[in-house]
Amino acid sequence: MENLVKLAREGRLEQGLGLTFGTHRPNPVERVAYDIEELVRDYRVGRRADGSPYRFLIKTYGCQMNEHDTEVMSGLLLAMGYEQSDSDENADFILFNTCAVRENAEAKVFGEIGRLRPLKAKNPELLLGLCGCMAQEQGVQKMVLEKFPWVDVVFGTHNIHRLPAILTAAKQSQETVMEVWDKAAETVEDIPKVRKDSVRAWVNIQYGCNKFCTYCIVPYTRGRERSREPEDVINEVRELVAAGYKEITLLGQNVNDYGVDLGTITFAQLLRAVNDIEGIDRIRFTTSNPWNFTDDLIAAIAECEHVVEHIHLPVQSGNNEILRRMNRTHTREYYLQLVNKIRKAIPDVSLTTDIIVGFPGETEAAFQDTLSLVREVQFDNAFTFIYSPRENTPAAKFADEVTLEEKKDRLRRLNDVQYQISLARNQALKGRVVEVLVEGESKTNREVLTGRTRTNHLVLFPGDISLKGQHVDVEITNPQTFLLKGQCVYREEVVS
Ligand code: 5AD
Ligand code: SF4
Repeated sequence: MENLVKLAREGRLEQGLGLTFGTHRPNPVERVAYDIEELVRDYRVGRRADGSPYRFLIKTYGCQMNEHDTEVMSGLLLAMGYEQSDSDENADFILFNTCAVRENAEAKVFGEIGRLRPLKAKNPELLLGLCGCMAQEQGVQKMVLEKFPWVDVVFGTHNIHRLPAILTAAKQSQETVMEVWDKAAETVEDIPKVRKDSVRAWVNIQYGCNKFCTYCIVPYTRGRERSREPEDVINEVRELVAAGYKEITLLGQNVNDYGVDLGTITFAQLLRAVNDIEGIDRIRFTTSNPWNFTDDLIAAIAECEHVVEHIHLPVQSGNNEILRRMNRTHTREYYLQLVNKIRKAIPDVSLTTDIIVGFPGETEAAFQDTLSLVREVQFDNAFTFIYSPRENTPAAKFADEVTLEEKKDRLRRLNDVQYQISLARNQALKGRVVEVLVEGESKTNREVLTGRTRTNHLVLFPGDISLKGQHVDVEITNPQTFLLKGQCVYREEVVS
């Protein structure tokens, strides 16, 4: 059998299999529609010679962008003839769709890859793969080749649509097949997707990030900002609405900047266009950063009846010097002013945020600024993290004198403050009737349903699963820090 890695190093693999090894970028970004029939004809490697299907399992780490990429890859694999597996033991292809934002997530993935190695002895056909943000890191690529050679395929965030070709190559190779482009070559449309949920769906509107916050690896792993054409977004949402989806989340790293690269549309205009789609129910969006949050955008959120009253608005720190060193380009004062403007226009809005503690150079006084900002804004919820240095990001070179113990203590103190705020804000809802979109049964009690308010509060209440996908009115009886418990106040049309 030919050694594909060797072929690739000699620059011949591309001719044979259409694969690119390493970080070569083939073309300028181009919109490509996927021909699923061609895919099935050329790459039906999901089945054995006797026609029985191979089984795949994707393990997803990190953000909603990754969750959605998993839906795309599942669609590709099913089109290739694979079936989903429900366990490691039954799978013939186990793929790690990874996150590189913090170091501990990376360590977990390597631990799992080590743990799964013995399965290869039991099932010689088993392929192990690594994709997602970690795969974009040269340090990780090197580590896999040197320390985890039993990984069969590694491919990057810009190569997802090439999975069929990559898997075909891996089936013929004894060594790790690696295809990682450093930049996007194509914005691919028409890939079939397997949606995880039947009520809520994600729709990518933009890929990549141009912001280069000094702590963040995303601009390196996901490339520059690219917006999808508005027609493609609208068509996808229309299809989802026709298929019965009730809640659409528009996804991007900086949704406010949607359309800047196209020059023909703004995010506010896109929201209005999606809002006008016949039959659309709820529209969410994430992530919306503080910059470029125009008055136009605030007006669009306030005026579009289907756009919900929830904004995830990462602040990261309440101290201007730290914000400057993070390259966030917003100040504490600008952020607070923006929050005031948003609350004035959308009085019931719920605001959530991301905060990093222990950024290099963060003094106790600087940390106190974060605490005071959190108290001042009164977020509904905050995702809080200890700073984790990421290879090749500017902040990784900053002198860091804060001890890990101190960082953990700051995280604990910050969470204490935020949990009290979350609880108090939830308690204010006691006795109120809120509109809940029912998502399904609680994992721990099948007689309890879970759903969310427009403001993204999780609500649990007793009810029958036939209500899944419906809007119900729930009276909040027992508000807690992370969820609201209540009783369904049946609407007339629901009562039989
Ligand atoms: N260390 C800790 N947290 C980080 N985030 C991004 N990069 C890092 C890092 N190096 C956090 C930010 C971001 C969220 C998705 O993850 O708060 O908003
Ligand atoms: Fe990372 Fe900043 Fe881009 Fe968010 S905006 S993905 S934190 S670089």
